[in-house]
Amino acid sequence: MDADERIAELCATALEREGPVVFLTGAGISAESGVPTFRGAEGYWKIGSTNYQPEALATRVAFEQMPEEIWAWYLYRRGVCRAARPNAAHMALVSVEKVLGDRFLLVTQNVDGLHLRAGTTAARCYQIHGNIDFMRCEDEHPRVREVPTSISVDWPKARKLSEADRAALSCCGGGGWSRPHVLWFDESYDEELFRFESAMNAGARASMLVVIGTSGATTLPSHLVSIAAHRGIPLIVVGPDDSPFTRAAYGAPNGLVLKGTAGEWVPVLSRALGA
Ligand code: APR
Repeated sequence: MDADERIAELCATALEREGPVVFLTGAGISAESGVPTFRGAEGYWKIGSTNYQPEALATRVAFEQMPEEIWAWYLYRRGVCRAARPNAAHMALVSVEKVLGDRFLLVTQNVDGLHLRAGTTAARCYQIHGNIDFMRCEDEHPRVREVPTSISVDWPKARKLSEADRAALSCCGGGGWSRPHVLWFDESYDEELFRFESAMNAGARASMLVVIGTSGATTLPSHLVSIAAHRGIPLIVVGPDDSPFTRAAYGAPNGLVLKGTAGEWVPVLSRALGA
């Protein structure tokens, strides 16, 4: 059976079953939009900033020690994301949502906001690592709000914060910094900010899981893939490289690995789902 026939078979099985068709995306889906991945050759964790070990920047500890440098780095990344445009894979998922409606769910690790800019409905898009266009105070029930438009999206790597930038990034309650609304390595998922329970619940009810452009390095996505493999539902993994997720799909009864780019395979999958 060739890949197209297998895709058609798995998608038909998924549509016959109860439950949402869940898409899980990572940095790979935005690679063709020019947003660097994290662990690829040009990845953020490979290059990072001039002075620091990359991952060390994405921690709360680092933010407490050097809020200005961390903000400058996130504002640089925000600029990279804003300069990018949704690509064919993002758009294909928007088409799938149009035909599946409430049976569509997207769990994304990406903080680049490209799914929402493509037109995916916010209510059906769990941004489990946050969104780089947003910030919040360190309160018990923080209000997540947009990074002020007064802060330019044209932010070269070496640019430092001005007095006006500092004021715009201060906590709305007065005193102290707001912080980027992203999940850092030394922090835990939760429901209020990152939809943890909602994502796990979706995984437990899913009729199919489609994994696109992720190396499988973080915990919640790993849970979702092992639940799908364990439940024996259709599990499709898209990406050019092998990973713990391709291995899970190779070993799963209804698993399929589609080697290649998101731009190549996601439009094919969306057509097989009726878009
Ligand atoms: N199409 C599909 N997949 C691609 C493409 C492409 N054009 N280009 C690269 N990939 C794949 C790579 O093979 C790799 O498996 O995308 C994956 C990117 O992996 P990472 O860089 O590790 O990014 P991701 O898996 O999203 O990282 C997860 O880790 O660093 C934290 O919070 C950060 O959300 C991030 C999380």
